[in-house]
Amino acid sequence: MSEWVQGTVVENIHWTDNLFSLRINAAIEDFKAGQFTSLGLDIDGERIARPYSFLNAPGKQPLEFFFYTAIDGVLSNAMLALKPGDEIFVKRHANGFFTLDEVPSAPTLWLLGTGTGIAPFFSMLQTEEPWQRFDRVVLVHAVRKNSDLRYREIITSLQEKHGERFKFQAFVSREEVSGSIKGRIPDAIASGELEHRTGLVISADDSQFMLCGNPDMVSDTSTALKARGLSKNLRRKPGQITVEKYW
Ligand SMILES: NC(=O)c1ccc[n+]([C@@H]2O[C@H](COP(=O)([O-])OP(=O)(O)OC[C@H]3O[C@@H](n4cnc5c(N)ncnc54)[C@H](OP(=O)(O)O)[C@@H]3O)[C@@H](O)[C@H]2O)c1
Repeated sequence: MSEWVQGTVVENIHWTDNLFSLRINAAIEDFKAGQFTSLGLDIDGERIARPYSFLNAPGKQPLEFFFYTAIDGVLSNAMLALKPGDEIFVKRHANGFFTLDEVPSAPTLWLLGTGTGIAPFFSMLQTEEPWQRFDRVVLVHAVRKNSDLRYREIITSLQEKHGERFKFQAFVSREEVSGSIKGRIPDAIASGELEHRTGLVISADDSQFMLCGNPDMVSDTSTALKARGLSKNLRRKPGQITVEKYW
């Protein structure tokens, strides 16, 4: 059996000059929320492929992926031009360990993502698991500009469904936006602003963190959390910080 499944583009949403999403129907194998697959196109006779996390919940079609367009990215620019009905290859089998079953239970689950690194969290939050295993969930989306804050409709529907158990906090680093924190996640952890804004306390006993996106954010946030007594979550030595670097 081929490792690739031929999928069909259902929708190509151009959010901004740099951000877009693809919705794709493809009969792939089951995956866990937080995992990634690869998307590929044949360009000049060669299959160009890259890994991308699922944004949709497992078991749902169409599959959904959230992208940043690199200016010189051959694949991202070719995907940007896809139209409904066009074909795209999707790897049949998903991979990755950035999944909730790798995270110990705790009262509060913190999900911190930059840019398109928010995608795996939307997949997780649309399953039952976080709501069965954690008392409350905080989703943090850190972006450069207000226009990079996408998928507000998913956030609204999670707020309606889960009420006080779900909190959303945006960071916008390069613009003043009402309700958002201006600046970066590690600074707001060190200063206590993130706790103040969410009304929650960060502690090794109460908190589990998942970090996804910009590798520098992942590393600087890990440092800020370690200064608060949290440690990296490893299978052989469970802790509170589980990470996925996006590039
Ligand atoms: N290859 C990929 O999969 C992929 C995906 C997405 C993006 N990218 C690359 O990322 C760049 C732009 O992506 P983007 O618009 O999503 O922006 P980004 O540069 O990743 O910034 C997103 C947010 O993360 C913050 N940030 C940056 N460094 C940080 C750090 N050390 N600690 C804490 N927060 C930090 C930014 O703050 P500041 O504004 O203060 O920097 C911003 O608020 C592009 O060059 C693109 O190629 C690659």
